[in-house]
Amino acid sequence: MCGLVGYIGQKSVSDVLVQLLERLEYRGYDSAGIALNENGKLILEKSQGLLVNLCNKIENKHFSATSGIGHTRWATHGKPNERNAHPHISENGQVALVHNGIIENYNKLKNELKDIKFISETDTEVVVQLLGKYITKKSDENHILQQIARVCEMIKGSYAFAIMVAHIPNKIFFAKKGSPLIIGCGKGENFLASDIPALLPFTNNIIYVKDGEMGEISAEQIKIFDFKLKQKNNIIKKINLSPEQVMLGNYSTFMEKEIAQGSYAMQNTLEHIIKDRTFYKIKKTKFQDLSMMSSNIHIVACGTALHAGMLAKYVLEKECRVGVSLDYASEFRYKKPLINKKSICIFISQSGETADTIASLELAKKCGAYCVAITNVITSRISSLADFVIPTYAGPEIAVASTKAYVAQITALYALIEFVAKLNNKKIKYNSNDIFGVVKTVENWSAKLLWHDLIKDICTKESIYFVGRGVDFYLVKEGALKLTEISYIHAEAFAGGELKHGSLALINEEAIVIVLLTQKDLIDKTLNAIAEIKTRGATVILISQFEYLKNCAQHFILLPKVKDILMPFVAIKPLQELAFLCAKEKNLNPDKPRNLAKSVTVE
Ligand code: G6P
Repeated sequence: MCGLVGYIGQKSVSDVLVQLLERLEYRGYDSAGIALNENGKLILEKSQGLLVNLCNKIENKHFSATSGIGHTRWATHGKPNERNAHPHISENGQVALVHNGIIENYNKLKNELKDIKFISETDTEVVVQLLGKYITKKSDENHILQQIARVCEMIKGSYAFAIMVAHIPNKIFFAKKGSPLIIGCGKGENFLASDIPALLPFTNNIIYVKDGEMGEISAEQIKIFDFKLKQKNNIIKKINLSPEQVMLGNYSTFMEKEIAQGSYAMQNTLEHIIKDRTFYKIKKTKFQDLSMMSSNIHIVACGTALHAGMLAKYVLEKECRVGVSLDYASEFRYKKPLINKKSICIFISQSGETADTIASLELAKKCGAYCVAITNVITSRISSLADFVIPTYAGPEIAVASTKAYVAQITALYALIEFVAKLNNKKIKYNSNDIFGVVKTVENWSAKLLWHDLIKDICTKESIYFVGRGVDFYLVKEGALKLTEISYIHAEAFAGGELKHGSLALINEEAIVIVLLTQKDLIDKTLNAIAEIKTRGATVILISQFEYLKNCAQHFILLPKVKDILMPFVAIKPLQELAFLCAKEKNLNPDKPRNLAKSVTVE
């Protein structure tokens, strides 16, 4: 949530800041702003809404500055307007700051600043006003660092800050605790950013700033300290990603590109798990004889990652006879979970930054549980906290709604289930080779044309219903979430057998119900549900690999056939494509749904 950037070098700073921010807009797009140091004076430019509004605003302004900071916001404290947009500046004009995170004790800190007139409603402004109070025109670099450390020690919450001081135009200061921050190392220029995609067009040499670290960058130098101002070594890592991986290429939106990359996410994740011998170092004893320790595996996640967890729970229980409990991270962290030293907790998170998932992981660790993280960002906080990390290799995911990361997550989970089965001498219905076999099927098939005639009708509805049983229920839950997120059509998923316990009351001649049926052993039961729906006059769109069921519904989408247990890898694609097509039909940008952000770093 919120992306921040900083640049210091020889180039026109406003251009560079805009380019950096463009690739962080997935973190929030309520407002954007930059602060530049023009010959010792801090200039702020801000705009409500997408970054493009800021670009239009500064289009004809010519700045000579070569250092600046920028921000793209997802509003937490204070409305998404220009006043609350970052950067914020101290009352005396001495300090400007951008922030990603939350200052929990901002009200208390405000008491220190009774004589200051606050301009915004944000939690962030208190930090810049405190710095403005402590940093004077005479402050040298060392004094400034001391004051930043002093303020950091006063703050409760999470933060990554980029800070500019008016009379020091050749430096940008920073500090971090709990929110991501990286430094990009260039030649005669250096960068700050919340995430790697921002930096890829400029440099692949990255320093990951750790929690409790702060420092300064100039065009030539990078200095990192702890909060006691003890200097640390700069550990530069070369990132093996190309700028193309975070560009649209031939696609018009990232979501479309990322749906198409699902097969790549599957293959890459599985190849890495095998090549890196990922499970080799896992604490095997923990996973052995799991059937004896009923319900001692816990899966915890949010959003789409939780849906991947639901599917894994079902398959683990069915195939390995292992009891699994599953929780929303936001619930797990407050429910006094029944976990102990014998428990295994699996945390799934694309970003590795989600606040509730991090808090749940910290709680599980406190209870002595063995914590496994499945994440797409190997350098994330969740990775660093977990006892064991299973990385997914979906590549950077930019669109807010997760698609290819979900496919990578279920790939990693299926591989983990295979590993657990082997350890416990359980015979299961697939192996990794079978999953590799499905990659091409997923790659070569798309339902976009098959949806073609139906999209207009679907988009006229206020609500769309999804129905499935077994794994199909967990898949349609994800399908419904995708549709809601990006097309703003209310969508709900029902378990086929539950219809008659309530939701059937919603079904009438106007309703469209999308039914997914991929499991042979559930055909009859799902056909019952279809009959119940059709009897109420609703339109049914059936998605299935069983062609002979074609006439059971008014519309039919034929899926390519793979083993039933691997059908989730195939069946998720048309559901993701449906959401994408509806957003397009309604002229909405699927990459940036209203009110949402990709990394939810606040509670
Ligand atoms: C947000 C995103 C979702 C994502 C969820 C969990 O809501 O919009 O796409 O599934 O957070 O994020 P995580 O990074 O923990 O998987």
